Order: sequence, then structure tokens, then C-alpha cells
Amino acid sequence: MMTNIGIPAGLKELLQGFTVEVLRRRPPNIAEFGVQYFTHVFENQRNDQRAKKCSSKPARKGITFEIHNSKDEEEEDSVKSTTHKYNRRVSVCAEAYNPDDDEDDDAEPRVVHPKTDEQRRRLQDACKDILLFKTLDQEQSSEVLDAMFEVLVKPQEHIIDQGDDGDNFYVIEKGVYDIFVQKEGVPVQVGKYDNKGSFGELALMYNTPRAATIIATQEGALWGLDRATFHRLIVKNNAKKRKMYEAFIDCVPLLNSLELCERMKIVDVLGGRGFKDGERIITQGDKADCFYIVESGEVKIMIKTNVSAMKAGQQDNAEVEVARCTRGQYFGELALVTNKPRAASVYAVGETKCLVIDIQAFERLLGPCMDIMRRNISQYEEQLVALFGSSVLNH
Ligand code: CMP
Repeated sequence: MMTNIGIPAGLKELLQGFTVEVLRRRPPNIAEFGVQYFTHVFENQRNDQRAKKCSSKPARKGITFEIHNSKDEEEEDSVKSTTHKYNRRVSVCAEAYNPDDDEDDDAEPRVVHPKTDEQRRRLQDACKDILLFKTLDQEQSSEVLDAMFEVLVKPQEHIIDQGDDGDNFYVIEKGVYDIFVQKEGVPVQVGKYDNKGSFGELALMYNTPRAATIIATQEGALWGLDRATFHRLIVKNNAKKRKMYEAFIDCVPLLNSLELCERMKIVDVLGGRGFKDGERIITQGDKADCFYIVESGEVKIMIKTNVSAMKAGQQDNAEVEVARCTRGQYFGELALVTNKPRAASVYAVGETKCLVIDIQAFERLLGPCMDIMRRNISQYEEQLVALFGSSVLNH
């Protein structure tokens, strides 16, 4: 008979990480591979502990699972330490960046990678919804586009390895990319990018080692932006963004429980978007990839349900308004929290401006606010039951 056996902390992640590596690499001898894998994980954990004790520098490499003999490893380490391109500084908090401290940047030559008309069209298309580019003016935007270069990737290619120094920021044109983060020395998949979005901004913004490993699962195409141009245009722009949004973000009730530096990290990655009166911001049934905070104006949240249509004596497909959000309020979190399609459509009422945060940043930065969001989500259920006599969120 099965007794109640407690599962030790970390066991699930450890076995998951191992399974992922076995499936990826398909070793001829799984047991032998297992010995090497777990030795590597163990060494990583020891390195992490040492790094924590001795300094703020994390273990040299992240998830990349390569088997070196220790002599190779030592040699590689000594080469690496003399050739480190960037003076690595591990910031524990979002540093306040002062653009006036960095006049040298302006003296750097402008980077231009010539492109065909067809390449430029594809690039523009890939960049049109990139939140970090939303606050650039036209001149800055075209400088960024000029500097970007095409990167074609193969299945299983590591685009970024956790722990490395940051070289480029990447915008996805196509392809699916898995995101892994080391937890207690074991790589855990925390999400994926599916044919859109961008990654690789953190190491460049905060001068930290890469915070995650990004692996292509299929052939794909990316557009890279070099560190210097990213710094000169995007990071400098973020200083302005902080000034612009600091006061507003401070009075968003949801974010009250966050430290100032956590709120600033949100500002660094958000994008501002304007909507015309009546414009649809979210479509019911769509896959969700963003979270919104109303900066000005108003939005209305509309649900299409047969239940509601019948009650209101409307046509089958009519939408019923269930709520409104104004300045400082948020929407679009439900599908991100529940991992389900959008449960309602959202429309601008009058000219409306919203701050937009992508799903990866939402998951990374808004964890501490999750309890508040969950509590509010349970109120949605009650509102809907009151409105329609039954909940429609799960339909
Ligand atoms: P960077 O640290 O420069 O390189 C790895 C990138 O993965 C990181 O920037 C982010 O753009 C992206 N990423 C996506 N999800 C996460 C996550 N949960 N934690 C850290 N980085 C993430």
C-alpha cells in the first residue's frame, strides 16, 4: 500500500532538467550521460554557493551543459578572465542611470548594417510591436533599424547562455525559443517566445550577466542590435522614461507593495501605446501576451456569452459591458495568470493611453503582486455571477 511520502524540495526540477537534456541530446547511453549531467549540476551548485560566499559574481556558465576535463576548464577560465570585454558589475537593483554621466557614448561611430529593401521591410515588421522601441523618436528609430543585423538560427542553437556577458539585444522575426533559468543549479524552462517579442535586454541595461538561457527549438530568424547602440539609444531613453513615468507608477495601487527599484525595472521594459476612441485593445478568445495599465482615458471590458445574450434579449453574438478601468487601473492579467485565452474584449473609450508590459516581464517582475491580482480575479467571478447568474470565465 502507498504511504504518504514527502517529495524532497528540488527533486521535480532536477529530474525535469535532466529529462529535457536527454530529449535534446539523445545520448546513446543514458546512464553514462546521467553521471556526467548530475556531476555537472553538482559542480554548478557548489560554484554558485562559492560565488555567493565570496563575491557577487555568479558561476561562470549557466545551463550550457558541456563536458570539459578540469584542465580544459581551468585554461578556458584563465583565458576568459583576461579577455572579458566588459567590466562586469552585478547590480542587485535597477541602477538609476544618468545619461549625463555618459557623454562618451555620443562620440561612438554610428553602426550601419546595409540592408536590401526586402530585409528592411521584414525588420520593420518584426520591430513594430517591440515595447522597448515605442518611446524612441523617428530619428532614434531609424538609427536603431540601421544598426540591426540579421541572424539566422538553427534548431537547438543557444542564442544566449545564462551567466555570459551580454553582447546583443535580439528581436524575433520568426521561430520558437525556449527560456531556461537555473534554479538551484538546475535549468528550468520558465517560458518561451513564439514567433514574436524580444530578449537579451537585461544584461545590456543593468550590466549584469545573462539572466536566462535562450535556445531555438527550430530554424528561425532574429535581428541583433549591438550593445553600444543599445546603450546609446535605448538605455539613455530609459532614463527619460523613468522621469516621465516615475510619479505615475508611484500611484498605481497594484504596484504599491513593490520597492522603488522594482517599480523602475517595470518602467524600463514597458512601452506606451495610444488608442483611438472605440479601438479594440484586446480580443476575446485571443492568445494573451501583454498586460496593460491605463495611463489616461478609459477602457471598457466587454464579454460575449450566450448566457448574457439570452438574459439581455440580445442577438447571439452581442457583447455586454462588464467593467471599466481608468487611470492607474490594470487589465489583461487574467489570461496571463490563468494561462487561458482572453476572457473578454477591451475597447478604448475616448482617446486612451496605456502602459504595456509583455508576458515575460510580467512573470519576471510582477510576481510579488500576484496575490493582489488573484484576490481581484476571484472578485471578477462574483461580479459575473451577479451579472449573469453564472460565471462565464471558465467557458
Ligand atoms: P538577458 O539577461 O540579457 O539575457 C537573457 C534574457 O532572457 C533576458 O535578458 C531576458 O530578455 C530574457 N528572459 C525571459 N524570461 C526571463 C526570466 N524569467 N528571467 C530572466 N530573463 C528572462
